[in-house]
Amino acid sequence: MTWERLPVDDVGYFSPKILDEMDDNEVRVWAEAFESRRYGGWRNVDNRWRECLGLDSTRDKTVLDYGCGFGIESLQFARNGCDVICGDINPESVGAAVRVLSAFGHEPRSAMIREDAPFFPDTPLEYDVFYSNGVLHHTPFISDILRASLRGLRGDGEIRLMLYSDRAWVAKVGGPLPGIDKDVRSHPKFRRFVRAMDGPHSTYADWYSPEKVGARLPFLRVISYDYIAKGGIYCALILAPR
Ligand SMILES: C[S@@+](CC[C@H](N)C(=O)[O-])C[C@H]1O[C@@H](n2cnc3c(N)ncnc32)[C@H](O)[C@@H]1O
Repeated sequence: MTWERLPVDDVGYFSPKILDEMDDNEVRVWAEAFESRRYGGWRNVDNRWRECLGLDSTRDKTVLDYGCGFGIESLQFARNGCDVICGDINPESVGAAVRVLSAFGHEPRSAMIREDAPFFPDTPLEYDVFYSNGVLHHTPFISDILRASLRGLRGDGEIRLMLYSDRAWVAKVGGPLPGIDKDVRSHPKFRRFVRAMDGPHSTYADWYSPEKVGARLPFLRVISYDYIAKGGIYCALILAPR
């Protein structure tokens, strides 16, 4: 996946440049429509997306939104007084997220993520929450990225992720699940899973059960793993360093 186009929930994939032609009022209207699809529909069943990922309970923290896309999650943290750093491998995406937050009167910081190992900014950052929503199931380097994330995580900090769950695999391509020790790309149903989750744009998607999280990320302690969204096809994961 090249990430030149970003997902806009239930609408499609768009270049971050779509915001270039809009004035601030139009950006706000566009972002609010995005928010109502994300938090008003099948993703946020029983408000679990917002609750389990701490979107309303996180106040006055420094949050790195890693893979911010259009910045819809960043906006939620900014609204609660958080100091938000919008980070992405695509500079246009960082620009779009900053534009969205600025249109609502916030002043986010920004960070360019390197496209190669260690997949992190060259500039040192410090944050209370490393937040990554819908990103790390798209890379085989989740473990390297989360190890790198620990460098900037403050003492009592947390990692919060939204990832595809094991239920997504079962719902989209049927069981049994691939072995948790196996590279998902070697499974005969891998391509079907990727297409079902992301359409034709994507080249990689993995799934995470509580067991697989434990096996893949042994240097982290699982504080909570919650199934969220219709059918529990996503999970909200809170982690801390061991
Ligand atoms: C599916 S979108 C999710 C966007 C946003 N988090 C949201 O909730 O709408 C994935 C985003 O992650 C970015 N991305 C993909 N791989 C990345 C990496 N290794 N480091 C940082 N950002 C990455 C993409 O450019 C894209 O903006």
